Amino acid sequence: MLKTKIHTRELSHCIYNASGVYCCSENDLNLLNNYNVNVGAVLSKSCTLQSRVGNPEPRYWDCDELSINSSGLPNLGYDFYNNYSYKYNFSNYNKPFILSIAGLTEQDNLYMIENLNQNYIDGIELNMSCPNIKGKSQTGYDFESTEDLIRKASEILDSKYSKDFIFGVKLPPYFDEIHFNTVSEIINNSSVNAITCINSLGNGLVVDTDSESTVIKPKNGFGGIGGSVIKPIALSNVHTFYKLTQCSIIGCGGISTGKDAFEHILCGASAVQIGTQFYKEKHSCFRRIETELKQIMKEKNYTSLDDFKGKLSYLT
Ligand code: DHB
Repeated sequence: MLKTKIHTRELSHCIYNASGVYCCSENDLNLLNNYNVNVGAVLSKSCTLQSRVGNPEPRYWDCDELSINSSGLPNLGYDFYNNYSYKYNFSNYNKPFILSIAGLTEQDNLYMIENLNQNYIDGIELNMSCPNIKGKSQTGYDFESTEDLIRKASEILDSKYSKDFIFGVKLPPYFDEIHFNTVSEIINNSSVNAITCINSLGNGLVVDTDSESTVIKPKNGFGGIGGSVIKPIALSNVHTFYKLTQCSIIGCGGISTGKDAFEHILCGASAVQIGTQFYKEKHSCFRRIETELKQIMKEKNYTSLDDFKGKLSYLT
């Protein structure tokens, strides 16, 4: 009922983890790959060329409606994830393995893209939007760098990898038509075939009234906002990129129930990722959201995602 495709790759169902949450260590990845955990794909923590410990703690905080984090890309380094893909292959329950890449420089990104263990990795999600590295802005808000990176990455992917390889980008939220148009044009002139929207909403600030203080330590309390408050922004981004590109859209942002997942798919998502809610509820969130989504579909007599994907109607 929930089976889907990202680019040409089939997923047995459309829900999986957002990069960043419980997908950093070998244990984390093994657990996601376990047949008991109902995810349609496994996505790694965004990796950098060298391993990183990340920002000082506390670096994550949440309440009912939102989360804020400034993890600072803690990860085990590119080689670990690239090599892990080989081991992963031997315990595969047919969940595609997607590597999230967040190089600190363009050169690092291109190196990582060039040297992927392509027999065992199904695709990449190039993170254009990490808000948490001090002194570095988000690539996705710098259209020249975005164009340059996507063009060079496309050249490598076209020459070295199969046509079925998933070339995904993870974008920051955009808020204005000119930005949607500019980024869509860059993507439409490239080999990108999947778009994850949205990354956390960068540089938010949560304040604790009692202590009159910030709630996380890095960057004077500034961090990426996730959770249900960002869902309307996520939906507008999903819907706009669905309309303006041919890419598979992966919805991310504010999904904690089957109803949220339904809305993302209605706006055009082929698959959805769970971030903040996965952090709060752990692995049981996937089966619960799946059950809730199926229930909504049943009530509406829908038997597949294609029955409603992208079919949002407008008030006239
Ligand atoms: C981090 C990276 C992200 O892309 C994001 O949205 C939030 C946090 C990080 O590791 O800091």
